[in-house]
Amino acid sequence: MVTILPARPEHAAAILAIQKRAFEAEAMLCRERDIPPLTETLDSVIAQIAVAQVLVAVEDGRVAGSIRGTLADGTCSIERLSVDLGFQGHGLGSALLDALERSLPEAARFELLTNQAMEGNVRFYVRHGYRVVDTLVHSDRITLVRMGKEVVA
Ligand SMILES: CC(C)(COP(=O)(O)OP(=O)(O)OC[C@H]1O[C@@H](n2cnc3c(N)ncnc32)[C@H](O)[C@@H]1OP(=O)(O)O)[C@@H](O)C(=O)NCCC(=O)NCCS
Repeated sequence: MVTILPARPEHAAAILAIQKRAFEAEAMLCRERDIPPLTETLDSVIAQIAVAQVLVAVEDGRVAGSIRGTLADGTCSIERLSVDLGFQGHGLGSALLDALERSLPEAARFELLTNQAMEGNVRFYVRHGYRVVDTLVHSDRITLVRMGKEVVA
């Protein structure tokens, strides 16, 4: 039984640990460990819980995934969608994304950056109605895909 709820400060350590495990595959694929999900600190996650829309998926009392959205001028920037190893591929990521979108009815647009090398991620967001906007060369190892979705009234 999965419940999605707003994150509280006591969830921060689990959120960070899951995020680091989940983004390890990306770091390995790109041979680049200097990426924000891996370098973020516990204090930063606690601070984000206070100012952003951070949701956690809790399964049988244990945090299994999380997502973060920051709303500015009607646009919600999505970051750090992470599902713990062993829970991936069972709909949790989809449920977190849907819950974030539903939790911010004032957002006219959702957008995110994802690593081009993670092809499954781009497919995942396309299936959820996101379209590729453009690509940004972040470094010689990382190209980011910007994706967006307009909210249809
Ligand atoms: C991407 C991620 C959030 C998806 O969550 P999930 O719970 O595994 O996804 P769902 O079960 O709702 O949907 C499955 C789809 O997600 C995509 N996907 C991406 N990475 C995946 C993974 N490691 N395992 C399973 N599915 C994955 C696939 O497209 C899959 O569709 P398919 O079955 O047609 O291949 C999750 O796999 C994850 O945490 N990955 C590592 C961190 C990351 O890359 N986050 C996204 C940053 S933009």
